[in-house]
Amino acid sequence: MSTPGHYFESMYADSSDPWDFATAWYELRRYGLVVASLPEQRYRVCFEPACSVGVLTEMLAARCDEVHAVDVVDTAAEQARTRLADAGLDHAHVRTADALDPWPRASCDLLVLSEFLYYTPEDELDGLITDLLRLAEPGGTVVACHWLGRSSDHACTGEEVHAALERSTLTLLAHHREKDFLLQTFRR
Ligand SMILES: C[S@@+](CC[C@H](N)C(=O)[O-])C[C@H]1O[C@@H](n2cnc3c(N)ncnc32)[C@H](O)[C@@H]1O
Repeated sequence: MSTPGHYFESMYADSSDPWDFATAWYELRRYGLVVASLPEQRYRVCFEPACSVGVLTEMLAARCDEVHAVDVVDTAAEQARTRLADAGLDHAHVRTADALDPWPRASCDLLVLSEFLYYTPEDELDGLITDLLRLAEPGGTVVACHWLGRSSDHACTGEEVHAALERSTLTLLAHHREKDFLLQTFRR
């Protein structure tokens, strides 16, 4: 079973930005690389599950006509909503929801999977990826980026996540590996 929402609720109860996404240079640079890896100049509809406080969401909004992001923790989603509203990005929408809850569009041409899939056990990854890929239209872009370190709160490793993506129906377009993370861009 994937890590339940109440685990993340408790993290945000201790800190409004538990991973320092809004301030850590590591994260801001990583987000910049994620956005730079996208092959199309513009996207019509982006879906970003597990958006946390919305820093990457704001960057994605500059390349997309419409962004739909969700986080299972309401206080995180609320921070993301405020960030996007303050930036005047009314084409970016954040809901408090699970990644697989019904969402407002039939499909997206950009699916962003960042630091999210390792909360699912390795033997459930193929099923989750199959479900998520149903949201992405054929020919669309799927970008994934995951930390390669070990953490007791992860159900599998970043390496296992990207191995599962590689054995899915996706076509690999770009592969960027650093000591700490792996970033891959795929065509659906
Ligand atoms: C490590 S943060 C990643 C945030 C962001 N994607 C990034 O790359 O910076 C993980 C986030 O996933 C959210 N999350 C975990 N499971 C989720 C699920 N099933 N649906 C939606 N959000 C989820 C958590 O609340 C948390 O904000």
